[in-house]
Amino acid sequence: MCPTNYDSASPIDAPTFEQILTLHVPRRQVLQVLGVAALSLRAPGLRSAATESVYPGSSLGFKELRRGLDEQLHVPAGYRAQVVIRWGDPVLPNAPAFDPTRQTADAQQLQFGYNNDYLAFLPVAVGGVASGRGVLVVNHEYTNPRLMFPRSPAYHQLSAEQTAVDIMAHGMSIVEIRQNAGGWKRVPESRVSRRITPLTRMRFSGPAAGHDRMRTVYSRHGLQTQGTFANCAGGVTPWGTVLTAEENVQQYFYGDIRGLAEEENYRRFGFRPVTLELNWGRYYHQWNLAENPNAPLHAGWIVEVDPYDSMSTPVKRTALGRCRHEGCGVWRNQDGRIVCYMGDDQEYEYIYRFVTRNRYRPDNRAANFDLLDEGELSVAEFTPDGKLVWHPLVYGLGPLVKNNGFNNQGDVVIDLRKAADLMNATRMDRPEGMEVNPVTGTVFVMLTGNAMRQRAEQDAANPRSRNHFGHVLELTPPGGDHSASIYDWELFILAGDPNTAPHRAQYHEGTTEHGWLVNPDNCTFDNRGRLWMTTDGANVLGFADGIWACDVFGAGRALTRHFLRAPIGGEVSGPRFSPDNATLFCSIQHPAEGSTFDFPATRWPDFRSNHPPRPAVVAIARRDGGVVGS
Ligand code: FEO
Ligand code: CA
Ligand code: CA
Repeated sequence: MCPTNYDSASPIDAPTFEQILTLHVPRRQVLQVLGVAALSLRAPGLRSAATESVYPGSSLGFKELRRGLDEQLHVPAGYRAQVVIRWGDPVLPNAPAFDPTRQTADAQQLQFGYNNDYLAFLPVAVGGVASGRGVLVVNHEYTNPRLMFPRSPAYHQLSAEQTAVDIMAHGMSIVEIRQNAGGWKRVPESRVSRRITPLTRMRFSGPAAGHDRMRTVYSRHGLQTQGTFANCAGGVTPWGTVLTAEENVQQYFYGDIRGLAEEENYRRFGFRPVTLELNWGRYYHQWNLAENPNAPLHAGWIVEVDPYDSMSTPVKRTALGRCRHEGCGVWRNQDGRIVCYMGDDQEYEYIYRFVTRNRYRPDNRAANFDLLDEGELSVAEFTPDGKLVWHPLVYGLGPLVKNNGFNNQGDVVIDLRKAADLMNATRMDRPEGMEVNPVTGTVFVMLTGNAMRQRAEQDAANPRSRNHFGHVLELTPPGGDHSASIYDWELFILAGDPNTAPHRAQYHEGTTEHGWLVNPDNCTFDNRGRLWMTTDGANVLGFADGIWACDVFGAGRALTRHFLRAPIGGEVSGPRFSPDNATLFCSIQHPAEGSTFDFPATRWPDFRSNHPPRPAVVAIARRDGGVVGS
């Protein structure tokens, strides 16, 4: 049951994860599926998309897009893309109309923020039936002042008022959306509507809460904090909360880390000695290292938000560790415990797993609210013989003791990278999205690339030096047990152009000249377990980022096909299906990135002469209302 005073006009049940899964998953037998999964990868001879719209082995029925780069968003013939909400649109009822020439912080904190990244769609069931309604929860990862403000200031040139706008354009937006003949529309009167910003009050839980190192001028006991920012991807729990991942937080703190008590931690996190790019710390003490030297320890966490209760206090769940969290792929294990898969998105960083100590209780939503505070965090080592070993990151175990600077589990989660360094973990090629396939029960890992990797640093799970294009791994827990210590794993694709030998790319042999991709970033699965990947980085090769989809088992395994093309400069992120698979939601982030307010590379999606481009959430559907991808 929905625990809130959400919408008194009609009874609404927030779906349990079982209900969502019932809609999502045809419930095939996992082992039966895995039995047909094995198909070796080869560097293909390319097929022409012009002559062959559907490779016989693929279950995907759409006509593949052609690779390209222009000002528009493209979807296949027979599909349409509809803007659901975009930067500056109202989130709260009293939001003023968007005026990009006179934007204010007061307006921005009521409006949809900038650079929408992750999105969660929590379907709303009425009387137990899917209703064409849902709660949309969206991260606003970062901003592009040169595209947001007239005269295109750099970050460090923002005035005090522009800095306040910039801050309020970060965080998260929560809106209810409803489907009608015109597509998905925001429900203006919904009581879930909420903006979460870098100034929203939050609290800590878990082993770092109340830790001495967490005390700051604005948090005397280290139990509370202000806000969330740099929110990249995330996850949805079975009890209907959303996890948002704080990623590149290091660039927001103003000043000099040299000589600070936490200098070692900040250096390992990837801080530069002096950071002056963003003005936040010039105007707000919580981002000023001289005034609040421990403030960076308040950032880099997984934050849990209850989207059904707009008055709830978001919680930073410190048991899941502190790093540049890309996202948090959530899975309910067969024994009822909850498993979170997390990538730390930087070159040579690690993959983490958290397994709760206690079991999920479907009958009592509130009983699950602190489930993520107790459990075991571990880090992955990939071995050359195709095994993955999870090493527990537990205070007192192995090297995680006083001699190495760890005095309690709080130190382990605060110094997560340092702890993982001591565990023989595998240094990965920028791990981004990690999601569990609901049909196969296997875990897919998007590794977006690592151009710095040297030949001598190649390993089985990161097999290419100068890995400009990234790759995808598939992890297989034994018997579907996601709490097991040892998994199997295999390479799924090596991204890049399979027709260019130096790329050393690998796909299914039927992959067309438009079907290969670069820099996989986020992913999701449809009801049939097919993988839908978004990319971040194609523009430098002269074509647009977008969505590529493929089967993961059967004759079409790893036969990637081009489904969506972003406008120039834009990245696609946050792919998410409606339960009936009739809609695929995704974020178009930073359209026209690299250009300016006055001379943008595109004015998507409005194409109005006085409007800059606007990051937006889009809903993609078939014109005949059928299942996306069929
Ligand atoms: Fe925010 Fe790792 O992308
Ligand atoms: Ca990302
Ligand atoms: Ca990225």
